[in-house]
Amino acid sequence: MRSIHFASLFLPFVLAADFTVGVGKDETTGKKGLGFDPSSINPAVGDFIVFEFRSGSHSAVQSTFDNPCTGNGGYNSGVQTVDDSLSVDAPNLPSVRLQVNDTNPLWFFDEAGGLCTKGAVLSVNPSTTQTAAAFKANAASAVIASKTSSSTSPSGSASGSAAGSGTPAPAQSAPPNGAERLVTSAYGLAFSLALWALL
Ligand SMILES: *[C@@H]1O[C@H](CO)[C@@H](O)[C@H](O)[C@H]1NC(C)=O
Repeated sequence: MRSIHFASLFLPFVLAADFTVGVGKDETTGKKGLGFDPSSINPAVGDFIVFEFRSGSHSAVQSTFDNPCTGNGGYNSGVQTVDDSLSVDAPNLPSVRLQVNDTNPLWFFDEAGGLCTKGAVLSVNPSTTQTAAAFKANAASAVIASKTSSSTSPSGSASGSAAGSGTPAPAQSAPPNGAERLVTSAYGLAFSLALWALL
């Protein structure tokens, strides 16, 4: 009996980690600015992406590797507007959570922020062939679809934006996710044990 309770309590807390991503935050300066901080993450299945919004109007919208700046009909955080007076790391900034359900790459851009071609993109679990750097390069050359034409029929012209033009894929350094995962797991473990003790 007790061991069944223990297992059912233990697993959810230990396995899910949060990957907080600042939207409208410059990942190199740490200040309010363009894009996502960090712009590439590697969550595991069951983990959560926590989009945390900075001053201005921003949205996290799912796209595709080949068309980084066009919504693909998948996830859309909705437009989040944050007052300019709030500092970059003010408490209780608006945030939304998205669970990662598999290990496939996911691609996002800041549609409301409007600077996708300048690099306001996020790579989730990029691969060795579809790298975060290549996604940014695709964004830089992307043609922005008109927001009014919400028809979902793709034009079908791949226009050679895919990789394979001979540019070597830059190596991706693994982001320092280990520490965050460890902390989350420690909390989960402590919480699970506390609950277990109560049973
Ligand atoms: C994962 O599954 C949940 C529940 O069905 C869904 O709300 C969420 O959008 C999914 N995540 C992604 C990245 O599609």
